[in-house]
Amino acid sequence: MLTLMSPGIEEYALTKTDKHESLLEELFKETHATMEVPQMLTGPIEGQFLKMMVKVSGAKNILEIGTFTGYSALRMAEGLPADGKITTLDINDVCLDVARKYFAKSEQGKKIEIIKGPALDSIKNLSGPFDLVFIDADKTNYLNYYKAVLPKLKSGGVILADNCLWSGRVLDPQSPEDLAIDEFNNFVSKDDSVEKVLLTVRDGVFFIRKK
Ligand SMILES: C[S@@+](CC[C@H](N)C(=O)[O-])C[C@H]1O[C@@H](n2cnc3c(N)ncnc32)[C@H](O)[C@@H]1O
Repeated sequence: MLTLMSPGIEEYALTKTDKHESLLEELFKETHATMEVPQMLTGPIEGQFLKMMVKVSGAKNILEIGTFTGYSALRMAEGLPADGKITTLDINDVCLDVARKYFAKSEQGKKIEIIKGPALDSIKNLSGPFDLVFIDADKTNYLNYYKAVLPKLKSGGVILADNCLWSGRVLDPQSPEDLAIDEFNNFVSKDDSVEKVLLTVRDGVFFIRKK
């Protein structure tokens, strides 16, 4: 992922942001040492943002689409009350094995349930209502995920969709992923059933609130 922010500014923001706990640093390092595309992990700034979004929204029932090695699920779990729950969906056992290991090591892990399989199939079997949905899986399905989860989101609930600036490729979309993100952004921007702002946090986080 190209960084949209100058590295100096990103580093500056990092020094002014609460640090993640040592277990998450361990997970961050293991992911970078063992995974093919470690940049998929949201990281400390967006992770802290997710945790605080969960807290300020008062969310208790969260759906995450795209677990990877579990970093963002653990960060959101930190913002949940003790009886809160995250259902997280992923298709890939290699990264899920890492996530399972860290969920077992963390105090927060008991709030997280993994459902393995294609996310669109898993969503069909979930009734919600969800207070917050974090979309962070395959880009070509973003619009499908949005359409599938919106009816299962409570009124006033929030969708956060990651990578919606897609390293700037939304300005000249060429690949199927570029085009899918651009199509998703266009669809959401015209959807009157939600309020929205496309934040320039990291790779772009679309913050969407159901009316
Ligand atoms: C960007 S990563 C998620 C990063 C994670 N949220 C984090 O911050 O650490 C995207 C994940 O989506 C998963 N994925 C891709 N296609 C999927 C599908 N059709 N159904 C479920 N998961 C899928 C991949 O296996 C990958 O782990």
